[in-house]
Amino acid sequence: MKAMQVGLLGIGTVGGGTWRVLQRNAEEITRRAGRPIRITRVADRDVERARALTAGAAEVTDDAFAVVRAPDIDIVVELIGGYTLARELVLAAIEAGKHVVTANKALLAVHGNEIFARAQERGVMVAFEAAVAGGIPIIKALREGLTANRIEWVAGIINGTTNYILTQMRERGVTFAQALTEAQQLGYAEADPTFDVEGIDAAHKATLMASIAFGVPIQFERAYVEGITRIEPRDVAYAEELGYRLKLLGIAKRREGGFELRVHPTLVPADHLLANVNGAMNAVLVKGDAVGQTMFYGKGAGAEPTASAVIADLVDVTRLHTADPEHRVPHLAFQPDQVREVAA
Ligand code: NDP
Ligand code: HSE
Repeated sequence: MKAMQVGLLGIGTVGGGTWRVLQRNAEEITRRAGRPIRITRVADRDVERARALTAGAAEVTDDAFAVVRAPDIDIVVELIGGYTLARELVLAAIEAGKHVVTANKALLAVHGNEIFARAQERGVMVAFEAAVAGGIPIIKALREGLTANRIEWVAGIINGTTNYILTQMRERGVTFAQALTEAQQLGYAEADPTFDVEGIDAAHKATLMASIAFGVPIQFERAYVEGITRIEPRDVAYAEELGYRLKLLGIAKRREGGFELRVHPTLVPADHLLANVNGAMNAVLVKGDAVGQTMFYGKGAGAEPTASAVIADLVDVTRLHTADPEHRVPHLAFQPDQVREVAA
């Protein structure tokens, strides 16, 4: 059967992982998707590095818009990051009738309402499993596995970089700056690590989970956000002495007539499951009225764990591509009209 042709924008940490995993597991992925999925075009600023990685198996350019508009591309995978160019590229892809897969939580937390509304109008999909908690399939779990539930709250460790920093400060006594440098070298941190350490990245993710869990438009501006930059080694040590661990939690909780959204360092009892989520691991607890509490645990950052989620979306989009557009999974659990209500 004809392959789904993918245009990859950005072949850095996650893009590189996506390329490798798609090559390595091609046979299995083809079987699951029902047809081959091939990255046939790649755009990256560093054309030489991209050519070396793809070794002639894809057309490489530094012009991301050329990939977006190429008539032979069915799905655009945006792994460049940032708000401005990424928004233009994603909107251009939607206008061109392409499905989009992105790991860019910053983009969706800020421009998601516009993007999903446009995608709905054009009848294309925008999939973003990799945008929240790296390799953990939490978007699918909230949208599908837990769909019978009235979700009461979602809470968890949803930033690998800050969890890595807090873990290294506690276990090895290293400084904040040293641990951050390590997290950057390991490919966990955002291009601007302020997003990680100030809690903004976790707030982006909590915002997206709240939207799905509570069926409301994306409302990042409502989040209370406090990061870990003021935490000192002695805070970590005092917490330990008192039987607690310091964790940066993202929390979305249903409230009478609305919901609350917050990210802040939290003292978690040392014997709690979340206290024992270490390094760049993430964990998300979800409380549903029928299921009770469930916990999702796994690698929250890094090349291949995140690629695992990107490719899961590619397989989903491939399967749904041929389905009746009326029966495609909704992008989020809200309707475009609700966005206008919130904006009013
Ligand atoms: P990287 O910086 O490693 O990769 C981005 C790539 O895009 C780089 O190769 C970069 O080139 C290239 N690029 C930047 N601007 C342009 C441009 N204008 N045209 C073409 N190529 C460009 O980032 P990551 O892979 O870490 O992150 C990508 C996305 O995935 C982000 O949205 C991030 O938030 C998200 N994400 C990352 C995770 C992780 O663990 N790293 C996990 C989950 C999501 P250059 O190197 O020259 O800048
Ligand atoms: N910078 C992010 C983190 C990448 O550390 O969790 C995964 O979204």
